Amino acid sequence: MADTILIVEHLSAAYGGIRAIDDISFSVGRGEIVAMLGANGAGKSTLLKCLSGEHKRSGGEITFDGEALPAKSYSIVEKGMVVVPEGRQIFYKLTVYENLQIGCCQRKDADGIRRDLEMVYEMFPRLKERERQYGGLLSGGEQQMLAIARGLMARPKLLMLDEPSLGLAPIIVNQIMEKLKQIARQGTTILLIEQNAKKALQICDRAYVMNVGHIVMEGTGEKLLADEQLMQAYLG
Ligand SMILES: Nc1ncnc2c1ncn2[C@@H]1O[C@H](COP(=O)(O)OP(=O)(O)OP(=O)(O)O)[C@@H](O)[C@H]1O
Ligand SMILES: [Mg+2]
Repeated sequence: MADTILIVEHLSAAYGGIRAIDDISFSVGRGEIVAMLGANGAGKSTLLKCLSGEHKRSGGEITFDGEALPAKSYSIVEKGMVVVPEGRQIFYKLTVYENLQIGCCQRKDADGIRRDLEMVYEMFPRLKERERQYGGLLSGGEQQMLAIARGLMARPKLLMLDEPSLGLAPIIVNQIMEKLKQIARQGTTILLIEQNAKKALQICDRAYVMNVGHIVMEGTGEKLLADEQLMQAYLG
């Protein structure tokens, strides 16, 4: 790939003696939407935690934007790799606006922050309307939008999302997938972790399939969508 933003080579991670991911290699090209699919316990979240610095890997190399990934979460965000975590994890007792401010707390470019706030409000008008409302009072879909918008406020080069569709109605899932396409079109690379394989495959450029700690398949979204055996074997 001519311009690869993320290269993961032979990555392994464990909890105590239990291997959660074992010798995983993959890459993400600049501007792509890459999906990482897999059933419960496949190791998807563990992979993301290794990428965000939340969990220490036991082996392997991660190269981001031409350099070895820093160890500390803080530095990883500064480099431009930002996670929208599983379960959204927004702050219920802070307002929408305050939640968004947390997303950019490591930035000092006041003008850029102001522009990005306008950009996310334009992308998610609902959040603008509810700017002063507590995060905890938003609907599940709105909370997911807020989590994504908060991620964007860090001005990521690579936005990584852990199951943004989880627990949401199909119509809301569609809206979120459309937003991810829009985000990618605007120049942010996306790594999308999903159990909702169909939806993810519809919007991604390429996908990988994980099964108990390994990558067992890869291909374009189109190719994997057409593969019924794959769906049955690994994705239900
Ligand atoms: N904190 C932990 N301590 C011990 N084992 C863990 C921990 N977190 C995850 N695991 C184990 O690691 C393996 C991979 O879990 P992980 O959460 O990465 O999977 P996942 O693909 O994200 O699953 P899901 O789709 O259910 O979110 C599982 O066997 C899980 O039980
Ligand atoms: Mg998970």
